[in-house]
Amino acid sequence: MEEGRRGIVATVFSTASAVGKTLIAINMAAELVREGYHVCLVDLDLQFGDVANYLHLEAEYSLADAQREAKTNTEGFDVKKFLTVYGYQGWSFYVLPAPFALEEAYNISTPAVQHILQQLQLDFDFVVVDTTSAFSEMNLAVMDMSTIITFLGIVDFIPTIKNMKIGCDTIRSLGYEANKIRIVLNRSNSKTKIDLADVEQLLGEPFYHVLPNAFEPARKSIQTGVPLVYSSTNALSTELRALVERYTNRTSSHESSSSGVSSWFKKIFN
Ligand SMILES: Nc1ncnc2c1ncn2[C@@H]1O[C@H](COP(=O)(O)OP(=O)(O)OP(=O)(O)O)[C@@H](O)[C@H]1O
Ligand SMILES: [Mg+2]
Repeated sequence: MEEGRRGIVATVFSTASAVGKTLIAINMAAELVREGYHVCLVDLDLQFGDVANYLHLEAEYSLADAQREAKTNTEGFDVKKFLTVYGYQGWSFYVLPAPFALEEAYNISTPAVQHILQQLQLDFDFVVVDTTSAFSEMNLAVMDMSTIITFLGIVDFIPTIKNMKIGCDTIRSLGYEANKIRIVLNRSNSKTKIDLADVEQLLGEPFYHVLPNAFEPARKSIQTGVPLVYSSTNALSTELRALVERYTNRTSSHESSSSGVSSWFKKIFN
């Protein structure tokens, strides 16, 4: 580990449930690996985390175990011990799953999560974080630490759009630099009578990227435990790859990332 190296925290957030945060976080991690980065995916949906399920992982340890060890063994704490490897055809990334039991989730503290993420930043180029749809103390602390926040929305019902608007305004009020927040529309072509242009006008900016609705590939990915960007070529996997490529300004190369994250990305987002 080089002195002073710090991985990028890339958080996926939304103000509504079931908009695709977990699916997109998994594919973001998977695609970053395809681009040659060393990646850890952290599940901060503490109570109902789905990352391990979606990837069919049988994890031995969770965030709760990592927190326990960090508290009791401050000097010797090594977060890597608590990670589970996901591998597919030569690509691999690490996962820190959400607590296995509901009562463990209650005991996760924000400072412990901050500490664990900081430790992961020392070892990985990217720490991708899946969250819940809430402006909780923990999510805000993680957003503070993030270099980039993918603010995911779907346009289905008026209340979802209202909450997206509240979320956008709230995140803007936090005073982050504009580049930090990327409003991404998911399931764009799902049936709705709401005009996207109207939504963009309401939000005050256009969607940074648009991900299409692809029910069958998304379902199959969860059923098989293989990220879309690894297993299939369809409109959704193509746009997921394109989104990550826009973030990193790189094309898939499989090259070693031992030199760390591209300076372009650091310059833009740090
Ligand atoms: N672009 C898409 N096209 C079709 N289905 C999608 C798409 N994105 C996500 N889905 C599906 O929507 C469902 C919810 O996705 P996901 O679990 O990732 O959402 P979430 O925001 O993490 O939900 P939660 O708030 O409960 O954590 C899943 O069944 C997933 O396969
Ligand atoms: Mg989720």
